[in-house]
Amino acid sequence: MQDAMPDRAERMSRDELQALQLERLQWTLQHAYDNVPLYRRKFDEAGVHPNDCKSLEDLANFPFTTKDDLREQYPFGMFAVPREQVVRVHASSGTTGKPTVVGYTRADIDTWAEVMARSIRAAGGRPGDIVHVAYGYGLFTGGLGAHYGAERLGCTVVPVSGGMTPRQVQLIVDFQPSVIMVTPSYMLAILDEFERQGLDPRGTALRVGVFGAEPWTEEMRREIEERFGIDAVDIYGLSEVIGPGVAQECVETKDGLHIWEDHFYPETVDPFTGEPAPSGELVFTSLTKQAMPVIRYRTRDLTELLPGTARPAFRRMRKVTGRTDDMIILRGVNVFPTQIEELVLRTPGLSPHFQLQLTRPERLDVMTVRVEARPGFEAREQAAGSLARAIKDTVGVSVEVEIVDPETLERSVGKLKRVVDRRATTG
Ligand code: DLL
Repeated sequence: MQDAMPDRAERMSRDELQALQLERLQWTLQHAYDNVPLYRRKFDEAGVHPNDCKSLEDLANFPFTTKDDLREQYPFGMFAVPREQVVRVHASSGTTGKPTVVGYTRADIDTWAEVMARSIRAAGGRPGDIVHVAYGYGLFTGGLGAHYGAERLGCTVVPVSGGMTPRQVQLIVDFQPSVIMVTPSYMLAILDEFERQGLDPRGTALRVGVFGAEPWTEEMRREIEERFGIDAVDIYGLSEVIGPGVAQECVETKDGLHIWEDHFYPETVDPFTGEPAPSGELVFTSLTKQAMPVIRYRTRDLTELLPGTARPAFRRMRKVTGRTDDMIILRGVNVFPTQIEELVLRTPGLSPHFQLQLTRPERLDVMTVRVEARPGFEAREQAAGSLARAIKDTVGVSVEVEIVDPETLERSVGKLKRVVDRRATTG
C-alpha cells in the first residue's frame, strides 16, 4: 500500500494547525465583512468587527448564520466575489421554499478536490483504484464532489450517478471497481439487485464503500460490511460548507469522522440556547472559501467533538445521529430515526428496509414502523412484538409495528426519506 498520509497538512501538529486556523479565520471574517452585505449588517448589529477576533475563542462573539439567512439571499446574495469569478454553482433542493444556492471560485473547486482526495485516501482508496460514483450528479454536491476528489487522488472514475440499479450491478461486475461512493440506503438497493440477479455481492472487487449524505448507524455498517465483504466508512459534508469532504472517517480506526479543520472550523452549541457545549448542534466557519464564506453556520446536525486519533491534529465528530429537524416528538418523547434503525437491525428476521409512518387517528400521534421481513422469514408476529418491546424499553415510546413482505417498500436512489407524515390527513 502506498503512503497513507502523503498530505503535509494531515501531519501538522495541533499548534501549527491552530496558528493556521487563526490566520485564515481573520482573513475570512474580513473577506465576509467587506464583500457580503448580510455579514456586514449582522456583525454591525452584534457590535463586532473582524479586528475583534484575536484568538480562535473570539469567534464565539460573532453572530450565527442560518439556512433562512441563505434563503433570503437567493440566488446569489451570499457571494463574496463578482459573479463572473464563480465557476460553479450547486443548490440543495430543500423540502420547502426556495433552494439554497452555493458558489465556488476556481480555487474553491481546487480546495474541494483536495479535501475529497484526502477523504477518499483516509477511507482506504489509493491512486490507481477504480472508483464507482453512484452519488447523484447535478445540483446535488455528492456526484461531482466525489468525482473531482477521486480524479485528484489519481483514480479511474466511473461517473454512474444514481438510478438504473441493474446497470449499477453490471458496471460493478464488469469494471471491477475497488471503491464505491454512494448513500448507504442506495447501497442496500444495489445489494437487493445483486441478489435478484443471483450474483454473490461478496464476490466483487469492491474493497471500500464511502457512505454519507444521510445518517446511518453502526448496525447498518455491520450489515453492509458483512453482506458485501467490504470496509464501510462514513463521509460527511453539506453544500453550504462545501459539499462532501468536510469530515471523513479513517478506515483503520472507524471511530468517528476527522474534520478537515485546516479548511472548516467546527464548534458545537446547545441547539436551544446557542451556547457552546461539548455536544450538540454542529456549527461551521469556512476558513479558505472565496466565493461563499460561511460564518458560524448552523448545520442542524447533532454530534459531539472528540480529540483526533488516526489524524492526531484534527478533531473528530461522532457519527451524526440526526438533525434537529428530523427529530420526531411522539407524545412528548424525542425519537430519531437512527434509534429505530439500530433496533430494527438487531431484531432477527427483519431487513434494514423500514419506514416510519406518522398518523393522528384520535388526536394522538401514532408512529407505525413498517419494516420488511428478510426473505423466507416466517415468524413475523414474534419479530413485531420483540421490536415494539425493544423500542418501548430503549426509546421509551409505544409504537405500532407492521411487518411487510420483502421488496414492498419504496427504495431510495439518493438520500433516503425515512418518515412519512400523514398526521395532517388522518386527524
Ligand atoms: O449531502 C453532501 C454529501 C454528499 C455528503 C455525499 C456526503 C456524501 P447536502 O445535500 O447539502 O449535502 O446535505 C447535507 O446531509 O447537513 C446532514 O444532515 C446530512 N449528511 C451528510 N452527510 C452525512 C453523514 C450533502 N455522513 C446534510 N451522516 C447534512 C449523517 C449526513 N448525515
